[in-house]
Amino acid sequence: MPWTCLLLLASLLRPSDGYLGRDWRHGHARFRARNAGSVEVSCASLNAAERHADVADGATGNAAPAVQRFAERLAQWRQNEELTPPCREEALHEALCRDSAWLLNHSRRWTKYPRETMWEGWMADLESHELNESECRSFGIDYKPKGWYPQVFHWGEGFLSHPAMAKLLEDEEYVDVLFRSSELVSNAPTAQTVTVRGSDFRTERLQALSHLRILARASGLNLDEIEQVVEFGGGSGEMAALFFDLGFHGSYFIYDLPAMLLMQRFWLRRAGIPAMLGAKLGKMPRSSQAQIFLESSKSGFPLRLRRAAKRHSAFFGFYSFTEADGQSRARLRPFIEDFGVILLTFWQSFDYINNLDYLEKWMTSLGRHHVLAWSVASENWLENWPLGYYFLAVDQELGSPKCLLELNCGPSTVVPRLTSKWLWDL
Ligand SMILES: *[C@@H]1O[C@H](CO)[C@@H](O)[C@H](O)[C@H]1NC(C)=O
Ligand SMILES: *[C@@H]1O[C@H](CO)[C@@H](O)[C@H](O)[C@H]1NC(C)=O
Repeated sequence: MPWTCLLLLASLLRPSDGYLGRDWRHGHARFRARNAGSVEVSCASLNAAERHADVADGATGNAAPAVQRFAERLAQWRQNEELTPPCREEALHEALCRDSAWLLNHSRRWTKYPRETMWEGWMADLESHELNESECRSFGIDYKPKGWYPQVFHWGEGFLSHPAMAKLLEDEEYVDVLFRSSELVSNAPTAQTVTVRGSDFRTERLQALSHLRILARASGLNLDEIEQVVEFGGGSGEMAALFFDLGFHGSYFIYDLPAMLLMQRFWLRRAGIPAMLGAKLGKMPRSSQAQIFLESSKSGFPLRLRRAAKRHSAFFGFYSFTEADGQSRARLRPFIEDFGVILLTFWQSFDYINNLDYLEKWMTSLGRHHVLAWSVASENWLENWPLGYYFLAVDQELGSPKCLLELNCGPSTVVPRLTSKWLWDL
């Protein structure tokens, strides 16, 4: 899709005022001073455990105990009413400044090269804030209001006027899941919220839950059946956060550009989720707790991927995979194309790659999977632009995708070229 169309799309998807939620500065009174002394103590010990995990030596395999200790401390910390008193904010920003200098030192700096694509420009912008001594210290407050790129929280606002949002809120069972995910504490203080049954939720949470609902309903799979996730392009990290908050116990990998990983780690940890930069770790043993790894092409990610779990692994790419250049797609495919579940959202074409052609070709090589693709919003798949499509592939051993009206899937919205013939015998 050309850039001008994206701009148009962004303006079409502006949130309506009716959904505007509370401003965090006025309403965020969850922290009660009842136990200020002990909060200070455990804040200091959490910060120390976090620092220790971040400098532990992954190369010699010594990182695991430190990471485990940090995850335990953070789990205790999550019991607090307020996750981000000043001592915690300071430590989170300190870690961002320190590790931006470290990680971006070892990777390509977009600021130094001519930027040809939209994403290259965005990465140059993000890196400049992460590497700036004062901006990396005001990151949590300035990111959204100052409109720093990429505008990950703005994407979530776009979901408010998306037809899938209404379908999600009509689904009582998934509104219950929303409350079970206990997302009452904001990981981004300035992100927009929506009030559902009297409680506030960030728009990104609703969008992530909508993806999860579509995955679960269309594949018939339950979260417990997934042991490992690789997500290509994690945005603000919301999908990983949702999995974590719903009690996921497996490994969740976000595969993204280094500057994005630094941002995601910041938001995830701010929400009490122990995300680790893969580049700092060696091979990590399997843990009974969720492990969230932030990976890029040079972080040694295959070391931590469990090939034995491939049938119970899911690959997600929400617009990201089908917006990436051919080389980045090709680099990742060998690791994920034998996963039990592949779920993508995509535009018809992006940056001159025709995604219908691309996915059709890929589909023929996915011999073990049933494939279903459909329009999420329009009445007819041909009229789908600009709301995008879903592409779901499920290993035959795990089941067969179902085309359900409640997901806007039906005879007229199925994309014939991208659907296994036996799934829509029309
Ligand atoms: C960045 O890289 C240079 C050269 O390898 C090194 O001397 C310097 O210590 C690095 N800085 C950080 C913050 O890691
Ligand atoms: C760092 O950010 C501050 C605040 O936005 C800005 O005034 C300053 O020029 C930046 N420094 C550099 C070296 O870009």
